[in-house]
Amino acid sequence: MRQASSTQAIPATGQTPRHVAIIMDGNGRWATRRKLPRTAGHVRGVQAVRRTVEACGQRGVEYLTLFAFSSENWRRPAQEVSLLMRLFVRTLEKEVDKLIAQGVRLRIVGNLGAFDARLRQLIAEAEQRTAKEITLTLTIAANYGGRWDILQAIQALLRAQPELAQHPEALDEAALSPWLAMHYAPEPDLFIRTGGEQRISNFLIWQLAYTELYFTDCYWPDFNADELDRAFAWYRDRERRFGRTSEQLHTPR
Ligand code: FPP
Repeated sequence: MRQASSTQAIPATGQTPRHVAIIMDGNGRWATRRKLPRTAGHVRGVQAVRRTVEACGQRGVEYLTLFAFSSENWRRPAQEVSLLMRLFVRTLEKEVDKLIAQGVRLRIVGNLGAFDARLRQLIAEAEQRTAKEITLTLTIAANYGGRWDILQAIQALLRAQPELAQHPEALDEAALSPWLAMHYAPEPDLFIRTGGEQRISNFLIWQLAYTELYFTDCYWPDFNADELDRAFAWYRDRERRFGRTSEQLHTPR
């Protein structure tokens, strides 16, 4: 039986990835190594975000998605959570003009209802102000979890089409995809996790099904254009088969 899959097309290989998704890990360890408070690592992490956005724009990446705060991060010490929130607010206030100058559209995905009203307001304004930019779409995943995303998509779909509950066999990938938080973006071509761990940690679990996964020991505050180029060089050497055989890929159609 032919199974319908949302990943039908074979993207061209040997090129710059169109969509790069990153788990920015290692801020705390970067700081602890220097006998600094963990929060100093997050502050330096913002600089790495800036560098990465710029480098991706220069290399022709169309979508960059960064995991800034997971649903599980609320379990961290209250002081660290509050610093992270203040960093988001400060960064949104300060960086939007720079994003516009670089042609960057900003989108925030996640369960934003948990954030305070001021942060939600800043998010809405930043998204609106950058809405016409087209060079690079920068998505920040905040209070995001892949399982949350799949569940909220099913709930939204059933709310919109309650009759589907009577015909569950009609629910397929194509029906669900438009309700996922990142419905506007193609699936990531390249996933990068810094900080040495080799896990997906409930990031874009639906969308990463066929993504090339790259792990580096580099701590996020040290991430820069050279590290990005190393990841891109590794990506270019990958053969993306999407379930097909190597021979199929190399036989002209
Ligand atoms: C993981 O490092 C990083 C985070 C939980 C937060 C990421 C936030 C930033 C880079 C700064 C803010 C970003 C934006 C977009 C304004 P960790 O603390 O888990 O490090 P560890 O594993 O070494 O403890």
